[in-house]
Amino acid sequence: MSRFPDIRTPPRAKTRGLGGRRAFSRLVLSASGILALLAGPAHAEGYGLGRAALPEEVAAWDIDIRPDGAGLPPGSGTAVEGEELYTDNCAYCHGDFGEGIDRWPVLAGGQGTLTGERPVKTVGSYWPYLSTVWDYVHRAMPFGAAQTLEDDEVYAITAYLLYMNDVVEDDFELSRESFPQVAMPNAGGFFEDTRPDTPTLTQAEPCMRDCKPGPVEIVMRARVLDVTPEEE
Ligand code: HEC
Repeated sequence: MSRFPDIRTPPRAKTRGLGGRRAFSRLVLSASGILALLAGPAHAEGYGLGRAALPEEVAAWDIDIRPDGAGLPPGSGTAVEGEELYTDNCAYCHGDFGEGIDRWPVLAGGQGTLTGERPVKTVGSYWPYLSTVWDYVHRAMPFGAAQTLEDDEVYAITAYLLYMNDVVEDDFELSRESFPQVAMPNAGGFFEDTRPDTPTLTQAEPCMRDCKPGPVEIVMRARVLDVTPEEE
C-alpha cells in the first residue's frame, strides 16, 4: 500500500449518497486550491508553516571548512596529542600506522604510487586540501560516532594524520593560525582535464546520443562474468 492517502479514492462511508460525493469534490477543490496558492503571488507572504531557524540551528549545520581555512573554529592540537586520540578512536579500523585494518581505508603512505598500477590514495599521497581532512574527520569520523570529537581533538588528530604522512614533525601544532603553513604533497597534482575526447562543458556540448560510431556490440554479460556475490 502507498504511504500516502490517495485523494482520488475517498473512504467508503463518504462515497455513499450525494453528500459524500460533494465532500469528495470539495476535497479535490481544496487540493487544487493549494496548488494555486503554491504557484500564486501569495508565496511572498509565507504559508504560516514552520518557523525561522534559530542562529544555533544554522550554526550546527554550517560546519564546512573551505580550502583557505575559512570556517575553522578556534582551537589547536599537536601531532603528539593526536597520537593517543587516534589510537583510541581510529586505529581499530585504520590501523596503528594508518595502514588500514582489513578493508578499512588506508590513511597514510602511498606517496609515489599514483601513477603506478596500484595507486594508494591517502590523505598524504592524494588529498590536495588540508581543509578536507579537518572537515571530514570532524564531520564523519569516528565512523559510527560522527561529531563526537571536540574541535581541539580534531586539530590534534589531523596533525597526527599529517605526521603519519611525513608532512609535519611530531611537535607540529595545528590551529587556524598554522593551517596555511601546511603544504599538501599532492596539491599540485590536479589539473583540468583537457583531453580532446573528454570535452568539458566549457569547451563543447557533451555528446548525448549516437556518440559511438558503428553498431554497439555486447561483449560480456554480468551473469556470465559472475560478479554478483551469492546470497548467504
Ligand atoms: C568503525 C571503523 C572506523 C573508525 C573507528 C574510524 N573510521 Fe575513518 N573511515 C571508516 C570508513 C568505513 C571510511 C570510508 C567511509 C566512506 O568512504 O564513506 C573511513 C574514511 C576515513 C577517511 C577518508 C579516507 C579516504 O581516503 O577516503 C579519513 C581521513 C578517516 N576515515 C579518518 C578517521 C579518523 C581520524 C578516525 C578517528 C577519529 C576514524 N577515521 C575512525 C571507518 C572508520
